[in-house]
Order: sequence, then structure tokens, then C-alpha cells
Amino acid sequence: MRIFLGIFVFLCVATVSIFGIRGTKFTEPPLYVFPDMDDQEKYRPQGENTFYQNRMDDRPVVPGTIARGSSWETAKVFNEDFNYAQADNPELYTGKTRSGEWVRGFPVEVNHALMELGQQKYTIFCQVCHSAIGDGDGITKQYGVATTLSYHDDRLRDMAEGEIFNTITHGKNTMSGYGEKLRPEERWAVIAYLRALQRAQNGTLDDVPTPFKKELLESLQAPAQDSTPADEPETTQEDDSSTQAESTE
Ligand code: HEC
Repeated sequence: MRIFLGIFVFLCVATVSIFGIRGTKFTEPPLYVFPDMDDQEKYRPQGENTFYQNRMDDRPVVPGTIARGSSWETAKVFNEDFNYAQADNPELYTGKTRSGEWVRGFPVEVNHALMELGQQKYTIFCQVCHSAIGDGDGITKQYGVATTLSYHDDRLRDMAEGEIFNTITHGKNTMSGYGEKLRPEERWAVIAYLRALQRAQNGTLDDVPTPFKKELLESLQAPAQDSTPADEPETTQEDDSSTQAESTE
């Protein structure tokens, strides 16, 4: 029994001293009983390599590659590009004039193609919150985005295009920026479309081109004549009881 206990204790100590050494610090390479995947064949950054002619693991970047990402190097590359462009044409890229005032109007040509681009990008990026007509009643309202505001008030109607550009680029309060997703030209296109939405909800007869004015006026008068006979059966059906009650009275 004593011998058995002795062997048992010895085995315990041996097991712990052989397998229990992982995790303690050694200057020697560890003894791998279960190597797991600690040691793999791989190319390391700045490692040496016999396969390639220049004997480097690192492969040069393919010419024309544009760095994307948020590391400071790529951010710097982007900013340098951006700064050149910005210095060249601050109105287009920042929505501000050289003297720091908001741009009024558009630094790009507003034409049908721009409007179509604006409509497309607005539908993709803005409609979920601001809604198709820009009243701020987008689908996200049902899911808790309650602070989206409507474009249809005087403050936003009178707001300089450049300030709206800045909001799209950097966001404002609870709205995040879309500068990374929309190129400057696309942002101006969205603003042109936003202006169209504002006009559509706040139009006067003077906004209607003359050739269509007559047509519109006629169509406005026409339903008034049409609706009387169309409304009559409804009212008589609905008011059946009341008319009966009136007639009996
Ligand atoms: C995720 C929802 C959301 C999306 C998408 C969104 N917005 Fe907004 N937007 C908001 C909210 C919320 C506000 C109100 C911010 C605040 O509290 O002032 C706002 C405010 C604004 C304002 C008014 C800023 C001011 O000065 O008061 C403008 C202009 C605007 N958005 C334009 C856009 C355009 C253009 C897009 C598409 C590129 C867009 N928004 C996409 C939520 C959104």
C-alpha cells in the first residue's frame, strides 16, 4: 500500500511537472505535447522568402490600388487628396465659399440628369427617414427614429444649399453623415431633388409652366362639375336614414 501511494504521488508530480508547465515563462522554446495550431507555416510581415525574386514576404501593392479603411495612413492619403480638391474648389467640396460663407445655389449644373441622380440617391439614402415626399415620416419612424424633421418649413426652405450640403456630409445631431457614401456631385444632386420636393409641397400656380397652366385650371374646374353627380348617390345612401327622418318630421 505504501509503495502504491508512493508511485501514485510520484506520477501526480510527474504529470503536473510535464503537462503543467505551459503558461510559465521560459527562454527555451516550449515542449509541445499538444501543439494545437501554435506553429503554422506562414508568411510574416517583413519576413524573408526564397520564392520571390526580391526575397520579401510582402508583395508590393498593385499599381492604381486605392487604400480604403480607417487606419491613420489611409486617412492621411485620403485627406491629402481631399485637401487638394478642396483648395481647388471649396464650394463644390465643402458647401462653403473661400470666405467661409454657406454657398447659395449650386456649384454644379442643375439639369435633368442631375435631378434623376438626386432622386435615385435620395431614394436610397434619405427616404427611409425623411419619406418619399420629405415630410420626415419615413419607415424608420415606426422603429423609433422619431426626431426626423420635415423639409417643409420656412427654416429649411430658406436654408442655404451649402448648409444642407454640410449636413449631408457630416450629419447633424441625431442624423449621421453621408459624406463617405455620396460623392460631392451626388450630394448636390440630392439637394437639387430635395429642393424639388420642397417646391412640390409648397407650389403656387406661378410654379406651373404656362402651357400646363390652362390644363391644370381646367382639370381643377372639371372635377367640381363631375363630382356633384358622383357625390350625390353616396350622400343619399349615407344620409338615407337622416333624410327619411327629416321627411317624416
Ligand atoms: C437614419 C435616419 C436619417 C437618414 C437616413 C437621413 N436623415 Fe436627415 N435627418 C434625420 C434626423 C433625425 C434629422 C434631425 C436632426 C436634428 O436633430 O436636428 C435630420 C435632419 C436633416 C436635415 C435638417 C438639418 C438642419 O439643419 O436642421 C436635412 C437637410 C437632412 N436631414 C437631409 C438629409 C438627406 C439629404 C439625407 C440623405 C442623404 C438624409 N437627411 C438622411 C435623420 C435621417
